[in-house]
Amino acid sequence: MSEKVGILTGGGDCPGLNAVIRSVVRKATEAYNYKIIGFIAGWRGIMDMQFEPLDRDRVQGIIHRGGTIIKTSRTNPLIEKGGIRKILENFGKLELAGLIAVGGEDTLGVAKALYDEGLPVVGVPKTIDNDLSGTDYTFGYDTAISIATDAIDRVHTTAESHNRVMVVEVMGRHTGWIAIGAGLAGAADLILIPEKPIDIEHICRIIKKRHDHGRDFSVVVVAEGAKFKPGPDGDERVIMLKKDVDEFGHVYLGGIGNVVADEIEKRTGFEARVVILGHVQRGGSPTAFDRVLATRFGVAAIDLVNKGEFGVMTALRGNRIVPIPLAEAVAGLKYVSEDIYEVAETFFG
Ligand code: F6P
Repeated sequence: MSEKVGILTGGGDCPGLNAVIRSVVRKATEAYNYKIIGFIAGWRGIMDMQFEPLDRDRVQGIIHRGGTIIKTSRTNPLIEKGGIRKILENFGKLELAGLIAVGGEDTLGVAKALYDEGLPVVGVPKTIDNDLSGTDYTFGYDTAISIATDAIDRVHTTAESHNRVMVVEVMGRHTGWIAIGAGLAGAADLILIPEKPIDIEHICRIIKKRHDHGRDFSVVVVAEGAKFKPGPDGDERVIMLKKDVDEFGHVYLGGIGNVVADEIEKRTGFEARVVILGHVQRGGSPTAFDRVLATRFGVAAIDLVNKGEFGVMTALRGNRIVPIPLAEAVAGLKYVSEDIYEVAETFFG
């Protein structure tokens, strides 16, 4: 009888998830004769015993499709009463040889905690934010910056026609990877990221100087998680969509673009408009780069399960896929480095 391996996708969805699922199923069934079961909606699926068998037919024609055929959620079993016990019990009942958890810092943080409790798990890094440590890239990031770059290109022509300041708000909760990547590619005149608190006076001086030198329009890219420099009361101003938090304690971000545009218009007198890209950055078809990366991660993950190497995450280092300890991947976020920021800064103004 063939052994069974589980797979789940957790956290925010991301282009490339279906490519990982397809690749795990194909390699697992054809090379190792495993049966794959997909848990529905992340950790919730194991807790509630909601799953579906995944075979070659089920994963046919999905490599180019965004989202995830097995759904996702931000369920955190670590805060549910008896959540960990339920997962370990259900895992045992299903007699699985291993689990592949595809997710970002939250999902893989849970995977690490469960590994410490004895669950044989391998992680695969996904997030459009590209902020997971230990891997050069997460899949989804390339697609997100391609979408955002296209939007910035479009915004440029309308900004120029109207002599306006256009503020483009992109995702990036804790880090500015999307803003930096798309801002650089789209030739933004300013890029505001969570790593560098916003000094609005300084920003407006740069814009004024640019316009004084005959450039009548500006494009500003801002990451949703960017903060204003601490005011006299010492607090950094974080702009939120609403006050509640999700199961991992994250606030719902969004709207900083409006505040930045208002401040610029007020202080410079230039007309400003805002575009909030939001979930468009997470939807639709993955780029070729993300399809290939996701496919390589999927193959590497099932190879690791087959070797019995657990408690690790597949990581891209240079052009190689290597296993790194889950503990290393979730120890801290990967922030935009000074050298990349300096490159971006060269083109400000
Ligand atoms: O973590 C990825 C991310 O895209 C963040 O950049 C963003 O803040 C968050 O997801 C929003 O996710 P959701 O709307 O699904 O809660």
